[in-house]
Amino acid sequence: NDGNGQSPSQEEGASTKGMSNRLTNYGDADFSLFLRKAFIKGMGYTDDALSRPVIGIANTYSGYNACHGNVPGLVESVKRGVMLAGGLPVDFPTITLHESFAYPTSMYLRNLMALDTEEMIRAQPMDAVVLIGGCDKTVPAQLMAAASAGIPTVQVVTGPMLAGSHRGTRVGACTDCRRYWASYRGTDIDEAEINEVNDKLVPTVGTCSVMGTASTMACLAETLGIMLPNSATAPAVYADRQRIAEQSGAQAVQLAKAGVTPEQILTPKAFENALRVLLSLGGSTNGLIHLTAIAGRLGIDIDLEAFDRMSQETPVLVDLKPSGEGYMEDLHRAGGLPTLLRELAPLLHLDAMTVNGRTLGENIDAAVHLIDQKVVWPRDKPVYAQGGIAVLRGNLAPASAIIKQSAASPELMTHRGRAVVFTGLEDLAERIDDPDLDVRADDILVLQNIGPKGAPGMPEAGYIPIPKKLAAQGVKDMVRISDGRMSGTAAGTIVLHVSPESAEGGPLGLVCDGDIISLDVRNNHLSLEVDDTELETRRQAFQPETSSEPLLGYRRLFMEQILQAEEGCDFRACRPVSTCKVPR
Ligand code: FES
Ligand code: MG
Repeated sequence: NDGNGQSPSQEEGASTKGMSNRLTNYGDADFSLFLRKAFIKGMGYTDDALSRPVIGIANTYSGYNACHGNVPGLVESVKRGVMLAGGLPVDFPTITLHESFAYPTSMYLRNLMALDTEEMIRAQPMDAVVLIGGCDKTVPAQLMAAASAGIPTVQVVTGPMLAGSHRGTRVGACTDCRRYWASYRGTDIDEAEINEVNDKLVPTVGTCSVMGTASTMACLAETLGIMLPNSATAPAVYADRQRIAEQSGAQAVQLAKAGVTPEQILTPKAFENALRVLLSLGGSTNGLIHLTAIAGRLGIDIDLEAFDRMSQETPVLVDLKPSGEGYMEDLHRAGGLPTLLRELAPLLHLDAMTVNGRTLGENIDAAVHLIDQKVVWPRDKPVYAQGGIAVLRGNLAPASAIIKQSAASPELMTHRGRAVVFTGLEDLAERIDDPDLDVRADDILVLQNIGPKGAPGMPEAGYIPIPKKLAAQGVKDMVRISDGRMSGTAAGTIVLHVSPESAEGGPLGLVCDGDIISLDVRNNHLSLEVDDTELETRRQAFQPETSSEPLLGYRRLFMEQILQAEEGCDFRACRPVSTCKVPR
């Protein structure tokens, strides 16, 4: 094995069970194994092959998922790695999720993918599993599953797409999708040009080319140590990506032999490291929800107060869109995530163990040291002095809300204004572009009922468009507040994840047109300037919306089980009782 493939310390072959792993119970274990081998031999395997450590490979290819368009090749490369290391690779399908093809929202389906993946890992015999994910919700779903299933796991990501080019300007999904669409709405560009751009935004397979949720989660998975070092940033179409897959397959065999399970890697220290990196990436706000959900599966709570303290001392160092300028391929050329980790090292737990049997610190030391590059900035000259995300509280968000401050307008970070309220997505669609809408540039746009239960599935509609009549006047940003999420590729002064959500009777649902709201990011404050008696009167009159359709199937499970944003939007039944906090 090469540099990435050091074996964790334990006698080889000590704990693999191969095909006899987790037998279906026919009341006769020997007969169950006999039957299992008879069936799989229909695929042409020999007894020699079937005596090896079995490495499952979660195959998330789908014709609907361009972010996973390279998965077939990656499966082949993982298989090669497994066989070179003496194991037997067996791929199996699970649900896959693409952001644009996941009605009503990909967040609504994330937990379904987590359940599917967890149970397929449990159901089938395997000594270790390689999870191939990429698009936003897939890596979180897979890591939630891995945390719960508890067998040795290596995560692999599909990798970012390359950036495209439109009339000489580099473009990439999907920060530039939004930018060009806003220009089109503001009539800066015409229909012919917007159609031209449409062909350029996604020039290859792979995940979004900016520091959106997919790239954020890839970097967090590497930081957590559940993915090989320097494996987050290689573009989907690079040969590097295939080599990473091969090495991951080989490493899965070593992990299976050593019996290293996810809970040995996904420790409170690893999560604290991941929170630091999330802040320093200017990463997606969704990353916080997903980390909370993954940690929650292991009984680890994320403490938002502590996260906010970390934010005050952890600068944004990565100059990628949407907080900065570059694309993921630039970060890869700059040495990938290890370049950032090296810069952040004084703030990290370097003794955290990773999937290759080495500590995070050892992996940083072993990585190629590139100096004089412009993508990862030094700590004394950061892209943004504080962490990318700030936590807000106040009578409008008693549990919490967050804002991606690195992608917000500095002049709006302290702002007081009149609320212009939309009661939901339909109301927003109907009125936002109405020329008669009573709205001014210094108002605050409020969108209710897009929380975990509200829409349902907490859509990424928190990026409320600027009303057309203001956009046409050149207004580029306004304070916007909702209980929903925002795409990791979006930017603006946008308050998200307001909790408790409107649909649960949270104060956000009680805001009326004309109320005064004040936002003070520096002091972590978000308040509704309406007195308590008036709020109480409104609360008494509040009627939660009820659906006329019967609640059945997954929808019912979702509505009964979904937790709020600060608990990771996981299902209540999937979280064990928490045993510790991060950071401690
Ligand atoms: Fe899949 Fe952006 S849509 S990563
Ligand atoms: Mg996204």
